[in-house]
This record gives sequence, structure tokens and C-alpha cells, in this order.
Amino acid sequence: ERSGLLWIIGAYLLGSIPFGLIIAKVFCGIDPRTDGSRNVGSTNVARLCGKKYGFLTLFCDALKGALPVWFSQGVYISYGFNRMAETFNMSSDAVLGSLVALACIVGHSRSIFLKFKGGKAVATTVGVFIPLAFWQLLFAGLVCILVILKTRFVSLGSLVLVTLLPIALAVSGKYDLLPLALIISAIVFIKHKDNIQRLLNGDEKPWIKTKKDED
Ligand code: G3P
Repeated sequence: ERSGLLWIIGAYLLGSIPFGLIIAKVFCGIDPRTDGSRNVGSTNVARLCGKKYGFLTLFCDALKGALPVWFSQGVYISYGFNRMAETFNMSSDAVLGSLVALACIVGHSRSIFLKFKGGKAVATTVGVFIPLAFWQLLFAGLVCILVILKTRFVSLGSLVLVTLLPIALAVSGKYDLLPLALIISAIVFIKHKDNIQRLLNGDEKPWIKTKKDED
């Protein structure tokens, strides 16, 4: 029991580390919580500090999701977790992986270091699915990148990503990861409610300015 719980607590604490805030403060002296979209995620860091730091944030936020999930795979889980796996007809890896992934994402969006505020969980979602469902993630990720390149709205691409991911899992028969993907999808949609409003109103901000925006 304890070993599973420790993994979950550890993942929450790791997820709580606000890399976007740290990178923006250290490298460009900006607090992303008070500027741009006021989000601590990689999109806002790219918007305020430039692409390089945006990608660095994306990398760190994804890595903090990928590592604990990756290391949790194959770990022995005790009676309570095994019963949970049996009840939901899931493998023990999928149970611990899903709980660790969720803990990490909750940490990112409700960080213990940011008075339980935090980011929109997209980069960390990408991270947790790298070890769990790489090909499904790659498919959803490529469509997401196309949407971003076409529209420059990372929010729209992110919503497409978390919509396609559960569909890709269902189509490929990875049913034991579906609960995780659907819960994450709901979290990401809720976190994007202001973005959705802006997209509908036509005043969403692109992730990076081009010459056209300055004219
Ligand atoms: O990853 C968050 C992205 O989908 C939207 O970010 O800063 O434009 O609200 P932002």
C-alpha cells in the first residue's frame, strides 16, 4: 500500500514544480502569472520570453510528467492497488501509471508551491503519455502541431490533442488508459475555459507574434 502512495505523493510534488515560472523569472525577469495570458505554461513563457524559453518550459514540464510514470511501470503494488486493478479490469501498471500521471497533473495545475494555483496541464499531459501510449500520443500530437502551425493558437491545438487522445486509445484498444485520458481531457478543457471563450469571441492571443501582428 505504502509504496503506491509514496509514488503518488512524490509525483504530486514533482508535478508541483512550476518550471515556467522559474525559467521566466531566472532567464528574463518576468512573472508569467501577471503578464500575457497570466499562465505559467510554456505558451505564455514563449509569448513573453521567446520561443527558446517556451520550448525549455515545454521540455521540463513534459519531463516531470514522463519520469515518474516511466519509473512507476513494473513497480510492485500491494493489495489495495491490486484490488483496484481487478475491480476496474486494468493491469497493475495501468493503475499505478494512471494514478501517478494524475497526481503529477494535479500537482502542475494545483501546485503546492503556488498556493494551489498552476498551469493548464498540456505539456505535462504530453509527458505522462510518452511512456504509457507513445503512438497514440504521437498521432494526437502531430494533429495538434498542424492546428497550431495553421492557426497559431496553442489553446486550440491543445484542445484538439486532449480530444483525439482518448479517441486514439479507444480505437487502438487501450481501454485501461481511457479513464485517465478522459479525466485529463476534462481537466484540460476546464482549465481552458477562458481560452475557449476568447476563441469563440475571436480575440484569442497567438503563442508568438509575427510581423503581421505588429502592422
Ligand atoms: O498550454 C496552454 C495553452 O494551451 C494555452 O496557453 O498562455 O495561450 O493561455 P495560453
